[in-house]
Amino acid sequence: MYTELKDYIEKNLSHLRFEHLLSTAKECAYLCQMFGLDSNAGRIAGISHDIARELSEKEIVTLVEKDGMDISDYEYTHPVLLHGRAGAVILQEEFGINEDVILNAVRWHTVGHPDMGSIGKVLFVADYIEPGREHITEDFRRRVHGLNLNGMVIEVLSRQIEYLRNKGNIIVESSILLYDKLLSENDRKHLSVG
Ligand SMILES: [Fe+2]
Ligand SMILES: [Fe+2]
Repeated sequence: MYTELKDYIEKNLSHLRFEHLLSTAKECAYLCQMFGLDSNAGRIAGISHDIARELSEKEIVTLVEKDGMDISDYEYTHPVLLHGRAGAVILQEEFGINEDVILNAVRWHTVGHPDMGSIGKVLFVADYIEPGREHITEDFRRRVHGLNLNGMVIEVLSRQIEYLRNKGNIIVESSILLYDKLLSENDRKHLSVG
């Protein structure tokens, strides 16, 4: 499945995107190994997560309308936020992928979601820190690599939220729900230690 997806992406998406997807897949596999997760599922999520990223806004919305979940007014006016959900529909319809861990990871990779799962967390982090990303320093990557999985997601999510706030953009609800969930999980862990 990985090779089939990789060939499709190389043929149908821009070269820059293909490089980003290859690099994300590699980073996903590395993080999966680090946390004892299924590297193959991670690689598949990594190589395919932006499969819908270069479609038109209209195509993205048409795909997402098939997944049975709500689309907010804000998402209707900013369809790029939906490219993960559109990607999950493509993976299901065109490639017959039905594993929820892969679909949820791809579906929620853009802004995060409490239901993204462990592979989803790995993808969320890998998408942000893969070595091709120009906004990331080696120092930051090293620091992230030293954290546990929830810590990594909190680190990346807080940088994203800060970036959006500085630009005066909206922080979508699923990002905030995820952030709150991770913080409360961390709190519980601290409490149980004491
Ligand atoms: Fe994306
Ligand atoms: Fe990406």
